[in-house]
Amino acid sequence: MFTALRLPLAGLLSFTLAQAVSAADCVPDQGHGAQVFANECGVCHSVTKGATGMMGPNLAGVVGRKSGSLEGFNYSQAMRTKNIDWQAENIEQLITQPQAYVPGTYMPYMGLASADDRHSVACYLKEQH
Ligand code: HEC
Repeated sequence: MFTALRLPLAGLLSFTLAQAVSAADCVPDQGHGAQVFANECGVCHSVTKGATGMMGPNLAGVVGRKSGSLEGFNYSQAMRTKNIDWQAENIEQLITQPQAYVPGTYMPYMGLASADDRHSVACYLKEQH
């Protein structure tokens, strides 16, 4: 009788945990997000306000910014017309598989396999103003 009861409860619990991880909550991660950024994104993106000259748009203040809207950056038509506000959640979606999230994007990046790393780096970007 307990087994029948326990199974749905376990299902409910793992559902709740999955929700918690995919939510926008950002927790201190001992610099893990900064490390992921340096390893995976820093070759093309700067988070130093106003810095230019890299292959990708400057990402200082990207969270809350409209996609494809940084003045002076030559975006793809796809990014310019995506028409979303960047938040930690949709940045996680973008970097899962950029070509799937923004078909036709110029971002030549295959995607970041680890959901933990995606979450950490999106949280890191939220702190770069
Ligand atoms: C090899 C270069 C390269 C790498 C690596 C790269 N990007 Fe990009 N990224 C670009 C380019 C180029 C664009 C502009 C895309 C377009 O116009 O379609 C871009 C666009 C973006 C945008 C949209 C910005 C805006 O102003 O709308 C975000 C967010 C972003 N990248 C995040 C990341 C993150 C996070 C990583 C690391 C996990 C990363 N990128 C790795 C080149 C790169």
